[in-house]
Amino acid sequence: MSIESTTPELEKINPAAADFLPLLGTDHIEFHVGNAKQAAHFYKTAFGFQSLAYAGLETGMKDRTSYVLVQDKIRLVLTSPLTPEDPINDHIRQHGDGVKVIALWVDDARKAHEETTKRGAVSYMEPTVEKDADGEVVKSGIKLYGDTVHIFVERKNYKGIFLPGFRAWKSPYNPPVTGLKYVDHMVANVGWNQMNKWVEFYEKVMGFANLLSFDDKDISTEYSALMSKVMTNGNGRIKFPINEPAKGKKRSQIEEYLDFYKGEGVQHIAVATDDIVKTVRDLMSRGVEFLKVPSSYYEGLLDRVGKIDEDLGPLSELGILVDRDDEGYLLQLFTKPVQDRPTLFFEIIQRKGAKSFGKGNFKALFEAIEREQESRGTL
Ligand code: FE2
Repeated sequence: MSIESTTPELEKINPAAADFLPLLGTDHIEFHVGNAKQAAHFYKTAFGFQSLAYAGLETGMKDRTSYVLVQDKIRLVLTSPLTPEDPINDHIRQHGDGVKVIALWVDDARKAHEETTKRGAVSYMEPTVEKDADGEVVKSGIKLYGDTVHIFVERKNYKGIFLPGFRAWKSPYNPPVTGLKYVDHMVANVGWNQMNKWVEFYEKVMGFANLLSFDDKDISTEYSALMSKVMTNGNGRIKFPINEPAKGKKRSQIEEYLDFYKGEGVQHIAVATDDIVKTVRDLMSRGVEFLKVPSSYYEGLLDRVGKIDEDLGPLSELGILVDRDDEGYLLQLFTKPVQDRPTLFFEIIQRKGAKSFGKGNFKALFEAIEREQESRGTL
């Protein structure tokens, strides 16, 4: 188990962020899915996540089942309902498989609830103590865009495998990891003219600061456009870019998402690796599908981004994108959607000093997405 068990020092790197809500990191991401058992098999086989914990009928949970997967600091929880009455069914009927909970690790879940609700957050879960033989966890939660929520998890008095009610999931099937290390950022798609509302929410309610902004001139192709603002907490560990569609000749990828997700929600989860060539090669060999940019992207790439440590051959073979900012460069690649609806996807990212999000790749990337939209008849 590689999740840090002691509370690290919270360094202040974004002075504009307020510190009434100190966040230690992303605790876990919970998906509501149609078949958690099969989804867990997919994330193990394709992405190299490891079996960590389980709750369901065998642990006394009657209405739902959850599989918890881990890879370095990333924890995914896949949850399905066991009865037709369970409200999770409504989430799945409306959205398909998708992210329900972005859980944030805090030192004091009661205070996190108090500080955010008094600043205008709508409560999703009052502070609740869960206990078992391994100690106690305090959880609380607030509502976000769409049906998405933040749960604050305080686990300093808990030494169990995940949360009370879960038991260790021992599986004889353990495909090796693929080098995914931590959640770098998670992106929200919100509706027309809603971006600034959610920027303000993260500023006022969560004490975040606006790190970067992109307008429709930065992010547009011949056909479609979007706008984006990146919000970050004080120690920079949590970064939430927020996208909204902008007017273009055709339907933007954000509109396609909103149409199929039936509302606002998490668009992509970016996960970091220390060796993107190795990770992507591994993921591809396990069947993960990635967006492809044309080979012309690599012509003159080094003139655009300058000297990089990696050989160009493997990057162009795998379709890995490169971008540079003032502080360094980054390598990134995006999967195709990971469920039937063209909604949630993953980004694989390796940072070499750069703290930005690949602005130089937006055009090539969105043209690749438009080719996918074209094939779905949704452009
Ligand atoms: Fe991203």
